[in-house]
Amino acid sequence: GLPARVRIHEVGARDGLQNEKTAVPVEVKAEFIRRLADAGLTTIEATSFVHPKWVPQLADAEQLFPKVSELPGVALPVLVPNQRGLDRALALGARRVAVFASATESFAKANLNRTVDESLAVFEPVVRQAKDAGAHVRGYVSMCFGDPWEGPVPLHQVVRVCRALRDMGCDELSLGDTIGVATPGHVLDLLAQLNEEGVPTDEIGVHFHDTYGQALSNTLAALQHGVTTVDASAGGLGGCPYARSATGNLATEDLVWMLRGLGIDTGVDLGRLVATSVWMAEQLGRPSPSRTVRALSHQ
Ligand code: HMG
Ligand code: MG
Repeated sequence: GLPARVRIHEVGARDGLQNEKTAVPVEVKAEFIRRLADAGLTTIEATSFVHPKWVPQLADAEQLFPKVSELPGVALPVLVPNQRGLDRALALGARRVAVFASATESFAKANLNRTVDESLAVFEPVVRQAKDAGAHVRGYVSMCFGDPWEGPVPLHQVVRVCRALRDMGCDELSLGDTIGVATPGHVLDLLAQLNEEGVPTDEIGVHFHDTYGQALSNTLAALQHGVTTVDASAGGLGGCPYARSATGNLATEDLVWMLRGLGIDTGVDLGRLVATSVWMAEQLGRPSPSRTVRALSHQ
């Protein structure tokens, strides 16, 4: 069966904007987040407290976060790669943080300048302190299906990293198909393997990229398995600056269109969301790649 309700974890302001070549003014980012909240999204990933040289697009995190942190009823997770990132986030009163690991060595090196085990060792005290501070902690795992350097990723590699993040205290995991190569059978195999190794479905979110047009099919497979947390990016913004072939997150509008058709509640007003993505596309100077945004607008 399918769930009655899905929680959308909106990543456009972070995963989307981290990948933009042009600098987006902080006030535009804040307005984007306010409009996303106004469209009914309740989990809006705001920014990352990473090294500004690694992701210059999000170097304004200190300026942005206080502008949106008081939005009523909205959780604003932020990414933290290490102790420095956690300190910066907690100093601003962040209540939700996310660490981000990789299932492959190549991407761990490219994204975090660490091996997989070195990065897990960095996360361990970060997760503990975040929990002690009362924060909710998400653990991302990138390259869960394929890796641009290493090819197909064995399930056991993904399970090992998921288990490690869970054992250190992460409240939820997000399985990243960073380069969008997953197909539904592979998704179901990974979910089954995780369950078998003691990771329950209700702690698992999915994070699909639409590079090969599979993001919605993969999402449907995950929902049929019982997953109820789905990451998506308004207007289909984004990718990842440290993975060449990572293009296009699953567009939130495409997701909402499918869920609405299935009678699954998300709390999102699709008209307002499309208007938000059209507005953001104007700010960025190019049309949204989302099929649903295109179909429902005149952009
Ligand atoms: P490093 O160069 O190894 O850092 O980078 P370090 O620990 O050696 O420190 C070097 C200097 O950086 C020090 O300064 C630190 O203080 C400073 P110095 O003492 O030399 O003056 N520093 C920082 N400054 C500000 N904020 C910080 C911070 N940390 C260190 N947090 C590091 C290691 C992890 C910092 C770097 O690799 C980094 O920032 N990486 C972030 C990459 C990133 O954000 N990638 C995108 C997000 S992941 C993603 O998009 C995938 C996802 O969507 C899921 C999917 O699709 O798969 C989540
Ligand atoms: Mg991503």
